[in-house]
This record gives sequence, C-alpha cells and structure tokens, in this order.
Amino acid sequence: MASRKRVALVTGASTGIGKATAIRLAREPGTELVLVARREELLRELAESLPCRATWLAVDLTAAEAPERVRAHLEAEHGGALHLLVNNAGAAWRASFAEGGHDNVRRHMELNFDAVVRLTEALLPLLRKAAPSAIVNVASTAGRVSRARTGAYSASKFALIGWNDSLYAEEKPNGVHVGMVLPGFIATEGFPATELREKAFTRWIVSEPEKVAEAIYEVGPGGKAERYVPRPYALAAISRILFPSLTRRVLTGGPASNLTTSTGGE
Ligand SMILES: NC(=O)c1ccc[n+]([C@@H]2O[C@H](COP(=O)([O-])OP(=O)(O)OC[C@H]3O[C@@H](n4cnc5c(N)ncnc54)[C@H](OP(=O)(O)O)[C@@H]3O)[C@@H](O)[C@H]2O)c1
Repeated sequence: MASRKRVALVTGASTGIGKATAIRLAREPGTELVLVARREELLRELAESLPCRATWLAVDLTAAEAPERVRAHLEAEHGGALHLLVNNAGAAWRASFAEGGHDNVRRHMELNFDAVVRLTEALLPLLRKAAPSAIVNVASTAGRVSRARTGAYSASKFALIGWNDSLYAEEKPNGVHVGMVLPGFIATEGFPATELREKAFTRWIVSEPEKVAEAIYEVGPGGKAERYVPRPYALAAISRILFPSLTRRVLTGGPASNLTTSTGGE
C-alpha cells in the first residue's frame, strides 16, 4: 500500500486469520482499519493494540441489517472510503448430511456465502469509487475437495469460489481487483485442528494464521488472483480434476480418517 490513506475492512477480525490479517495490514503506512465481528471486547482490545487508526463494529454478519450497519459505519468513521474488503468471517459445524440435513447446509450458507455476498453488495459502490481497490474472499481448500462430514461447509466454500471467479471478471474493468485465499489446515479458535496437532505424522500439515495473513496481503494489495496456504494444498485441487477416481479413493479410504477434525462451532 502507498503511504496515502488506505482503508481496509476485515471481517472476522476478533480471532484467528482475521486478527492476524489486521495485524499484518496495520504495518503498511497509511492504513486505516475497520474490524468487524460479533465480540466487541476482542475487537476493542485489538484496535487499541494496533499501530494505526482502527475502528470496530460488533455485528452479526448474518443479520438482515448487517450490511447497512457496516456501510453506515464506514460513512461515519472513514468518510465512506474503502480500498480493501477482506471477507474472512466464517465457521464450520461438522455433520454428515443424514445427521445435519438442510438445516446445517443453510447455516453454513448464511454465514460463509450469503453474508459475504450481501456485505459485498452493500460495499461495492464504495470500492468502485475508491478504485484501484480490492476484495479478498477467504475460501478454503475444502472449496475444491470435499470429505465426509464437511459437505455443508464445502458447499458454502464451493459456492464462494464460483461467485468469486465471476466477480473477478466483472469488476476488473472497474478497477476492483477480486482475489481469493484458500487455506488448508490452520490452527485457530474455530478450526483448532487438535487431532492433527496431537500426532507427529500429521502435525506438519497444520499451518499458522500469520501465513494466511501474508497471503491475504499478496492477493489484496499485491494483486494476485489466488493463493493456497500452504502452497502444496493446490495439489489436492489439481488432483480432484485430473485424477478424480484416485482422489475419491484417497478421501474415502482409511488414511483419510486421520484428517478428520472437529471445529469450534461444534
Ligand atoms: N483455520 C482453518 O483451518 C481454515 C481453513 C480454511 C478456511 N478457513 C476460513 O478462514 C476464515 C477464518 O477462520 P479462522 O480459522 O480464523 O477461524 P476463527 O478463529 O474461528 O475466526 C472466525 C471469525 O469469524 C467471526 N464470525 C463468526 N461468525 C460470525 C458472524 N455471524 N458474524 C460476524 N462475525 C462472525 C468470529 O468472530 P466472533 O465470534 O467474535 O463473531 C471470528 O472472528 C473462515 O472463513 C474459515 O472458513 C479456515
């Protein structure tokens, strides 16, 4: 980012990847941050610890009025300027389809897809006005490959990726760069990956929120179209297309059970 004022809004900034992203962006001269999530105390603490101006808004992004509240906050506190929108807030509630049914799919879609689309719709006029500007959508490797008990989460991230790619093409002529980051296993409050971190032979596949934050920086201000974190996770996406039956065999076989994780949402 250049040293003139650049306003960046990060959703899900109270913990994990969003918090690490706020800390990473705050290092860039001229940055002003808007931190969004539900837990106000965590947002306030983070804002007060950052080396740049940071405001916060405690809001449930699935609420009907959330997008307008965020927009009103930007108008009131930052003169309606917005140069970077990081759509990061999200969660997972593991369940098979037989157990969770449509209710579990709906819950994932409401937060991981609908809330992102609704917020982007409300803020796109500001991003266009501030162009060159950027949107970063935090998807997931689970938006490329699906495993047992992650179907509802994967469906929401597959949807996000499809929408992201279309928006990339549509907004390019308007100077709004749209990119995405696809994390693999990252140890956070919502995705603790405890089962993987407990075993020596799976511990190495779990990465840190700071690495995702750096990728978000590369995609947003840096202008990349997409980044897997860690990078080798791209192989899972490639093999799903090139070797579908092999990928299916691996993901439904015995070794795949070592990749089963519980989430903070449960
Ligand atoms: N960690 C991983 O392994 C992993 C892998 C792939 C993709 N991702 C994606 O990365 C993103 C960030 O996840 P994370 O790993 O950093 O998990 P996290 O630490 O649990 O962070 C999730 C954030 O979303 C916020 N949030 C949840 N529900 C919300 C709601 N209804 N309204 C507003 N904010 C809400 C939470 O804050 P409040 O509770 O304060 O609202 C929190 O700040 C998610 O989109 C996730 O799907 C994570």
